[in-house]
Amino acid sequence: MPQQEIILCDETGYPGVFARYAHFFAPGRIIFLRGDLGAGKTTFVRAVCTELAVEDLVSSPSFAILNVYHTPDFRIAHFDLFRLSAAHQLDEIGALDFLDALVFVEWPENCAGFFPDPDLEIAFEFARQDGRRLCLREGK
Ligand SMILES: Nc1ncnc2c1ncn2[C@@H]1O[C@H](COP(=O)(O)OP(=O)(O)OP(=O)(O)O)[C@@H](O)[C@H]1O
Ligand SMILES: [Mg+2]
Repeated sequence: MPQQEIILCDETGYPGVFARYAHFFAPGRIIFLRGDLGAGKTTFVRAVCTELAVEDLVSSPSFAILNVYHTPDFRIAHFDLFRLSAAHQLDEIGALDFLDALVFVEWPENCAGFFPDPDLEIAFEFARQDGRRLCLREGK
């Protein structure tokens, strides 16, 4: 599995990451976002949505578990499993019906095995001077 590490001093680097991995940000793809609270996962989804001409407001789905956004051509399903207590909550919202969308999953470890293996996994870590280290791993 190809793996790549990228150091960013701030969030202005996210469009560059999008450009480099552009083919992953497409319908039917699933992307796992790992990393501690505040590591930058939602900010990254917001940046990708901007690049894909999404006009909806992109906010953290940590209470709702799922937010759905629309590009001109397809939808984006943004899951945050941080507050998930049981897999049946995902069944209730029909989570697997969104697999034809571009899917982002924050905190996928909170319901391991529920979603298919990701096409791309990005781990966000805090780095020096408020920056972030991203480790990108291609799957499947
Ligand atoms: N690459 C970056 N460099 C510096 N700051 C960043 C970077 N990415 C995000 N941030 C900042 O980190 C803060 C928290 O980001 P964000 O809400 O995206 O975290 P998160 O990983 O989604 O957290 P949670 O697990 O709580 O949902 C924001 O204030 C954002 O501006
Ligand atoms: Mg978040």
